[in-house]
Amino acid sequence: MFVNDCLNVNEKGHLTIGGCDTLDLAKEYGTPLYVLDENVIKETCRSYVNSFKKFYDGNGMPLYASKALSCKELCRIAKDENIGLDVVSGGEIYTALQAGFPMEKVHFHGNNKTADEIKFAIESKVGKFVVDNLYELELLDKIAGDMGKKVNISFRIKPGVDAHTHNFIRTGQIDSKFGFALETGEAFEAAKEALKLNNVTLNELHCHIGSQIFDIDPFVTAAEIMMDFIAKIQKELNVTISELNLGGGFGIMYTSKDEPVPYENYMEKVSVAVKAKSAEYGLPVPFIYIEPGRSIVGEAGITLYTVGGKKEIPNVRTYVSIDGGMTDNIRYALYQSDYTVLNAGKADKEANETVTIAGKCCESGDLIQEHTKIAEVEVGDTLAVLSTGAYNYSMASNYNRIPRPAMVMVKDGKSRVIIKRESYEDLVKNDI
Ligand code: LLP
Repeated sequence: MFVNDCLNVNEKGHLTIGGCDTLDLAKEYGTPLYVLDENVIKETCRSYVNSFKKFYDGNGMPLYASKALSCKELCRIAKDENIGLDVVSGGEIYTALQAGFPMEKVHFHGNNKTADEIKFAIESKVGKFVVDNLYELELLDKIAGDMGKKVNISFRIKPGVDAHTHNFIRTGQIDSKFGFALETGEAFEAAKEALKLNNVTLNELHCHIGSQIFDIDPFVTAAEIMMDFIAKIQKELNVTISELNLGGGFGIMYTSKDEPVPYENYMEKVSVAVKAKSAEYGLPVPFIYIEPGRSIVGEAGITLYTVGGKKEIPNVRTYVSIDGGMTDNIRYALYQSDYTVLNAGKADKEANETVTIAGKCCESGDLIQEHTKIAEVEVGDTLAVLSTGAYNYSMASNYNRIPRPAMVMVKDGKSRVIIKRESYEDLVKNDI
């Protein structure tokens, strides 16, 4: 019935998450409310860590892609679970620092790191800079030199694998704002360039082929292409690239149509391919990083809303208005993403009504889901939108000066606030 493991229905017919009644959570903390299940997040982290132990002699490490949900508590969990972090901005670095995260396990991504961000990252002892372009390479070398430091770098490579097609294709990814192209020789020229510089050490290559991907084959192909390139660098430049970062992108379940593969299967298949390529080229087996974001927090989260109105337009549709919307979840407005919506107080009842869930912004496109089936809705009901742990809070805005919701962590029937609800005061705090 439900799209993820942390949910259940209690004897009152109410939806529960992490052993907590969602109606009680809505009452105690107010709505809209993000709720995250701690056990699910930790179990997912562990399954990634274990997949390295099981299939790759422990010779690798997952990095949590914090863009999916950056906050201090998630950094603390990543730290406790012994995984690293992928960050993409000074703000995400700052969040990690504030959480006491071991900065040597942080990889800094982004296609336009500013000079200030680079300086801040070096001061913060960030472990790896994933360089996106030649301009950045030179800037990083200069700033590191000025600061009397030498930094470890990786290159973001476009491996030419497009995973977002029915049958994934191996070309056509040149048109991306991220990284160095392989086909044009750009990536190889950049590697030559890096060798001339004094303040950077190139010891890793990185690729990321997309997000919400269910098929493992494109990842295997990308890994093979990267190994071929590592071999070329070894042969022609006599440089050993000892680390390979294969990015994130593992798909999760938003509705019953989605069929994610167990996350372990990924390392099972990729490790075979990487080991085979290492043997073929007589290269050392590289240390592997992966960067799951969505799959670590996505299914662990739900959002609770209160219904404030219902508008039946005969022969057109029925709008159900909630007290949040595109400001806390922009993914339907932006990508027409599918979600499962439940009437949390009638979780044991049949979904017999078809409605469109509308947000409260002055914007017709402010919808959470259209023509979705739900147990009959009345004003005052609590709705739950499932699998909202990733790319919801992190993409939230204050459009219409709507404060961002609070976030609560639940575990074994207990709840605690991990992000406070924004106040009206917060909204004007930078206004002069
Ligand atoms: N590594 C790199 C370099 C990435 O660019 C991304 C995501 C990840 C890792 C994590 O991918 P994940 O495991 O979360 O799929 N806002 C969009 C998703 C954008 C993903 C961008 N990069 C959404 O809401 O669907």
